[in-house]
Amino acid sequence: MSVSGKVKRITVHTLQAMKKAGEKISMLTAYDFSMARLIDQSGIDVILVGDSASNVMAGHETTLPITLDQMIYHASSVVRGVSKALVVIDLPFGSYQGNSKEALNSTIRIMKESGAHAVKLEGGSQVKESIVRILSAGVPVMGHLGLTPQSIYKFGTYTVRATHRDEADKLLADAKMLEEIGCFSIVLEKIPSSLAKKVAESISIPVIGIGAGPDVDGQVLVMHDMLGITQEFKPRFLRQYADLSSIVHQAVGQYIKDVKAGDFPNEQEMYDPEIRA
Ligand code: KIV
Repeated sequence: MSVSGKVKRITVHTLQAMKKAGEKISMLTAYDFSMARLIDQSGIDVILVGDSASNVMAGHETTLPITLDQMIYHASSVVRGVSKALVVIDLPFGSYQGNSKEALNSTIRIMKESGAHAVKLEGGSQVKESIVRILSAGVPVMGHLGLTPQSIYKFGTYTVRATHRDEADKLLADAKMLEEIGCFSIVLEKIPSSLAKKVAESISIPVIGIGAGPDVDGQVLVMHDMLGITQEFKPRFLRQYADLSSIVHQAVGQYIKDVKAGDFPNEQEMYDPEIRA
């Protein structure tokens, strides 16, 4: 039996055992109770309450506007739907960059109020102090390097990162540093697959890729993208596993037709008891 199949609940230690055993880690985002429950029942290893909620749930152009309170709302809904997966929650923009005390306070609120099991935050050496402080409170931390959407205005585009030697070297050094200070895992977003492979081979903690090729320890996708709910976003790295947009359009279109034609509800779909005196 697989490492993940043997445990009742996935923990950060399960993920580390999976890397050791060469078993790939599956991770998807979720933001609400009902979808988290479906994804958990399907057997996913890790659910990320991503700050991509800002895009796919709230309709913002970037991840920057989402607040700590909103992330806690999403995460607590997800946690109520999950019985096996490890639930990781993104620290939103502005909740950890100021200083390490602010980072710890944000994390304590998230852990107390949502019931999530770990936090993820973006960046390397520039957020080292914050990560160390969070870890010292006993909270597992997942790093996030490469394309870091919270810094979109610094980079200007969502193109592939670390395509120049100095940036690639810095990314590898940051990954080693994140392992050394005690992060349990790292997400690598949109970087050359050869670099992702090198990172995954150079550190002992699990490396989860999104747009980082196959030679890492696991993969993550945004649930709305892989289920075909998102309509405009079709990057090269995305594999769409369903076309829920078409299913919703078809179902809602049929409902509208039935209502307009007076075909809904029918006799089986209404209550008709005798009205007693
Ligand atoms: O917020 C998010 O969905 C993420 C994933 C893209 C890794 O950080």
